[in-house]
Amino acid sequence: MSDPDAPIALDAYEALARRYSDLAETKAENGYNEHPAMRAQIGDVAGLRILDAGCGPGFLTRDLLDKGAAELAAFDISPAMIEVARERVGARARLFVADMAQPLPLPEKGYFDLVVSSLAIDYVRDWSVPLSEFRRVLKPGGRLVMSVQHPMGAYTWYNPPSAFGVQLCEATWKGFGGKPVVVADYYRPFGEIIGPVLAAGFTLRALKETRPVPELEAINPRKYREGMTSPTFMILDCASG
Ligand SMILES: C[S@@+](CC[C@H](N)C(=O)[O-])C[C@H]1O[C@@H](n2cnc3c(N)ncnc32)[C@H](O)[C@@H]1O
Repeated sequence: MSDPDAPIALDAYEALARRYSDLAETKAENGYNEHPAMRAQIGDVAGLRILDAGCGPGFLTRDLLDKGAAELAAFDISPAMIEVARERVGARARLFVADMAQPLPLPEKGYFDLVVSSLAIDYVRDWSVPLSEFRRVLKPGGRLVMSVQHPMGAYTWYNPPSAFGVQLCEATWKGFGGKPVVVADYYRPFGEIIGPVLAAGFTLRALKETRPVPELEAINPRKYREGMTSPTFMILDCASG
């Protein structure tokens, strides 16, 4: 019987790490939608201590360092992703392999000003562990900004048997070149997103449904139209009490 706590996306991201690192910034969904929306929502980070959870190849880690963050710790479950992140940011960030479904190997309590997480917590079924860990390492009054799949977009994409409940789904990614990779994921309705955030003791400050940036229209009109009419991602901006 398969282990319900086993990481669902590790093998896929091990296979995709290098290709994802090379291409995601040119993708309509990432480089022209989630990346700019997340950076705009995060805002000024000068002087902040930041944890990037599920950092992947380190795009956001790099950008936060370039914007003057005082300290960056970043982790991912995929050693291959951490390797490419290290190539991208070198020794400027403390990079390590960790599973956010488990208690984090961070002794710091009340240390970070900000936890960011881009499109990574979606791969964890039970959000109570990562969210309580984020609260533990955040200062009182600290902030969590995370992007997740929009339930409507995920429902359309995965077509699960029901719109209720957290459901394991999968899709074959062909857009990153090379051999197609099957990526498992969880579809999650609104109640399974907002509920755990509030239950963990966060206050929701803002919820943004992201749209592509105007530059995408000339580059990829179809993706621009799709992104402007149907939400793919949303960003939750939360305060830790
Ligand atoms: C869509 S990528 C996003 C990467 C990066 N945050 C970005 O925006 O470019 C999802 C990332 O989540 C990581 N991930 C998946 N499950 C995870 C887990 N349980 N703990 C930590 N990272 C995880 C994957 O390895 C992958 O790097």
